[in-house]
Amino acid sequence: MDKDVNKLVNRLEEEFQNFKKDLKETTNLKELEKLKVNYLGKKSLITTTLKNIGSLPNDLKPVVGKNTNIYRKKIQASLDQKVEFFESLEFDKKLRKEKIDLSLPGKKPELGSKNIITQVIEEIEEIFIGMGFKIAEGPEVELDYYNFEALNTPEDHPARSLHDTFFISDDVLLRTHTSPMQVRYMEKYQPPINIIVPGKVYRRDYDVSHTPMFTQIEGLVVDKDINFKHLKWTLETVARKIFGRDRRVRFRPHYFPFTEPSAEMDVSCKICDGKGCRVCSGSGWLEILGAGMVDPNVYKFVGYDPDEFTGFAFGIGIERICMLKYGINDLRAFFENDMRFIRQF
Ligand code: PHE
Repeated sequence: MDKDVNKLVNRLEEEFQNFKKDLKETTNLKELEKLKVNYLGKKSLITTTLKNIGSLPNDLKPVVGKNTNIYRKKIQASLDQKVEFFESLEFDKKLRKEKIDLSLPGKKPELGSKNIITQVIEEIEEIFIGMGFKIAEGPEVELDYYNFEALNTPEDHPARSLHDTFFISDDVLLRTHTSPMQVRYMEKYQPPINIIVPGKVYRRDYDVSHTPMFTQIEGLVVDKDINFKHLKWTLETVARKIFGRDRRVRFRPHYFPFTEPSAEMDVSCKICDGKGCRVCSGSGWLEILGAGMVDPNVYKFVGYDPDEFTGFAFGIGIERICMLKYGINDLRAFFENDMRFIRQF
C-alpha cells in the first residue's frame, strides 16, 4: 500500500516539476489557458486521479485524496499568480499605447480678426469721442419720411434720383445714407447736440467704386452760434488724425438738399501722391465726405427754432477712408471675404 502511495506522490511531484517548467515558458494569457487545461483539465493526471478515488480501497482514499489535492492547489496557486502577472503586463501595454504626450504642441484654432471696416469705424469713433461726441445708432430699414421728406427732399425733388434707392414699399426703404438719424435724433433731443452715427447704408450700384451696401458715419452738431468755421476745423482735425499731417485736404462747394451751404471734402490720393492715377480718376484727389450747415427747413420738421440754433452735419464714407489709408483700389475687396485680403489687417 505504501509503495502505491509513494508511486503516486512521485508521479505527482514529477507532474508538478513538468508544470513548473512549462509555466516558465508561457509568455501570455492564452498559453496559460492551455497549460491549465493540460494540468487541471478533464484529462489531466490530477483530475483523473481524483475522479478515480472512488474505485480505490477505502484505506487509500484519504491519503490519495489529500496528496492529489495538495498538488492541485499548488498548481492552481501558481497559475493564478501568473495570470495576475500577465494581466498587469497587458494593462501596462495598453496604458503605454494610449499615452497622451501633454508636451506636444496642440492644434491652434484659427482665430478671426475684426473686419477692416470695423477697425476703421472704431478708430474714427475714438477720435470723435476724444472731441466730446456721443455715438448714436438708427434703423437700416427706414421710412421715406426720414430718409428724404424731413431732410428737405420732397417726392418730386431731383436729388432723389441720385440715390438709387432699394424700396420695400411705397414709404419704406433701405436707408440710402445715415442722415435720417439727424432728424430722428433732433425729434427726441434738444441742443446742444454733438453726435456721430456709424452704420450701413444701401444703394443700387455695383462697380469698382460702388457696392450695394456700404458704410457711413454721420455727424451732427447743433447749438447756438455754430458756423462753417466749426465745421471746417472739426473735419480737418479729424482728417489729420486719420491720415497723418502730410496728407492734404480740400473743400469743394457741393449741393445737398438738407444742408446750405454744402461742401465735399477731398483727401490727396495716397496711391499717386496727388499726381493723378486710375483710382482718383487722374485728379489726385479722393472725396471722403459730404458736409454742410443744417438747412433751416430741416429744423422746421423737428420743431427747432432756426433763429435760435445753427449747426453742421457731415457724412463720411468709411470704405473710401479704408481705401485711402491702406491703398486698396477695388471697393469690392471689402466684401468678398478673400482670406488673402482679410489676413493683411
Ligand atoms: N448723406 C450724404 C450722402 O450720403 C452726406 C451728407 C451728410 C451731406 C450730412 C451733408 C450732411 O451723400
